[in-house]
Amino acid sequence: MSELLNNILFLPEAASTFAERVDFLHHFVVLTTMVSSAGVGLAALFMFFRFRRRLPAQATEYVVPTLKTEFLFVSVPLVFFLAWFGIGFRDFTWVTTPPKDSMDVYVMGKQWMWKFAYPEGPNGVNVLHVPANRPVRLLITSRDVLHSFYVPAFRIKQDALPGRYTQIWFEATKPGTYQVLCTEYCGLSHSKMLAEVVVLPQEEFDTWIKDQRRGRLQDRQDALADTSLVPPVARMVEQGQVLAGTEGCLKCHSVDGSKHIGPTFLGLYDRVEKLEDGQDIRVDEAYITQSMMDPGAHLVAGYQNVMPTYQGKLQGPETAAIVEYIKSLRTPNVREGASEGP
Ligand code: CUA
Repeated sequence: MSELLNNILFLPEAASTFAERVDFLHHFVVLTTMVSSAGVGLAALFMFFRFRRRLPAQATEYVVPTLKTEFLFVSVPLVFFLAWFGIGFRDFTWVTTPPKDSMDVYVMGKQWMWKFAYPEGPNGVNVLHVPANRPVRLLITSRDVLHSFYVPAFRIKQDALPGRYTQIWFEATKPGTYQVLCTEYCGLSHSKMLAEVVVLPQEEFDTWIKDQRRGRLQDRQDALADTSLVPPVARMVEQGQVLAGTEGCLKCHSVDGSKHIGPTFLGLYDRVEKLEDGQDIRVDEAYITQSMMDPGAHLVAGYQNVMPTYQGKLQGPETAAIVEYIKSLRTPNVREGASEGP
């Protein structure tokens, strides 16, 4: 039924749980709009004929609307507008809140390709493999200019911003290959900035990712037999926690709030830091990323500038994973508290 409707309305195939929601709202809006415009059109036609000019000329009745009819004209559309808004708001909140058990994939747009990376690998270009019927969260960023990650069949679209991470999630409902487009004009080959999502049944996906990892590690004999690679780490925050240890972050940064060589990671994200030149700066993704790549860029008052650069040492996905880890250590802030108000 909904597939037939999609064909009539020229909608692309619906292949995610979110697509069903978007289509429902779309159909509901189109249907109510069509019915009401037909009503208005028919009423107009009726008026044309009913009150057309007749001979001998006679003045048409002057209609004064009663309070009751005015109320009807205002309240009926209002109910529909509120219903659209309600459904839209519910779905918007839904798609911007990834489920806790979702699998993370790092997505980076660059002129003019899409790069994908899974926590602990593999990395790929222009083809994103995901399992069916499993929530997948995309952590999206850009290396150069604005891009936008759009999968019509999933009805998801999210901007990719340089220096920031945005997120969106989806759950693919059927195996297949789906088109990815860039929907933010980003230069000469914007129209060719295409990729595809390959949705595999869970078992096939597991085999795929296992093979990929094995391929990456084939020069290390022991890796072939290493079953600890499976099940893989699915969340970037876990990968970030591991990296913070292996890359030496935790030698200078504590995670329990105590002051060490560098500022503690606990509650670092979203905090306002006082710089040596007296300026205030809010710790966001861009700040953390820059601090890793160019530690001298911001000199925080009260700390020595001894941090080494991680430029070239950390790949994009690893940097994002560490940022995710630091974000996970944020303290509930005032803004969140405020949203609980009346
Ligand atoms: Cu990237 Cu348009």
